[in-house]
Amino acid sequence: ARVVVLVSGSGTNLQALLDAAAERDPAGRPYGAEVVAVGADRDGIEGLRRAERAGVPTFVTRVRDHATRAEWDLALADAVAAHRPDLVVSAGFMKIVGAAFLSAFGGRTINTHPALLPSFPGAHGVRDALAHGAKVTGCTVHFMDAGVDSGPIIAQEAVAIHEEDDEETLHERIKDVERRLLVDVVGRLARDGYRIEGRKVHIP
Ligand code: GRF
Repeated sequence: ARVVVLVSGSGTNLQALLDAAAERDPAGRPYGAEVVAVGADRDGIEGLRRAERAGVPTFVTRVRDHATRAEWDLALADAVAAHRPDLVVSAGFMKIVGAAFLSAFGGRTINTHPALLPSFPGAHGVRDALAHGAKVTGCTVHFMDAGVDSGPIIAQEAVAIHEEDDEETLHERIKDVERRLLVDVVGRLARDGYRIEGRKVHIP
């Protein structure tokens, strides 16, 4: 499967996908998902440099280069479409996509979020779980829809919150789990296919 990854930051989830594509699973099967392009909403981020080091084409579609948010959304959809992806992965991409993007790629765009949805959606999932005094949080890989972290859930894994955790230590522990979960989910979707029925995602 051809995968376009969207990033806004350090890109360690992207790196995990790049690394997985270069390997085979214990049964000797190829990973099945190839990162064919990496897109970002800003320049100068480590995520883009990771793509460049891996020899993967990149593109940047910035909101401020467009007259309206809808035009940005359309430009993003066009830039992604140019790489003919089977799947799009939002991996730390800090933008909500709009109608044009979803009409082109809804149902095949997944997002990874550092909390157990539907708890703690939004840009500060780790901070919000800590502030709430939760004892367990985790990560969620889900299909993207028009809402904020609200689409059908594909997979989740729990991470315990420790007494001494701050946002950084907790986020790092979540990201260790998140990278593994994302690599697993993208590989399964790519190799085995999937079906979305309402809020349920079936992978054969
Ligand atoms: C991840 O925790 C992702 O869920 C998010 O931001 C982080 C991105 O990390 N919202 P990286 O850029 O993949 O290192």
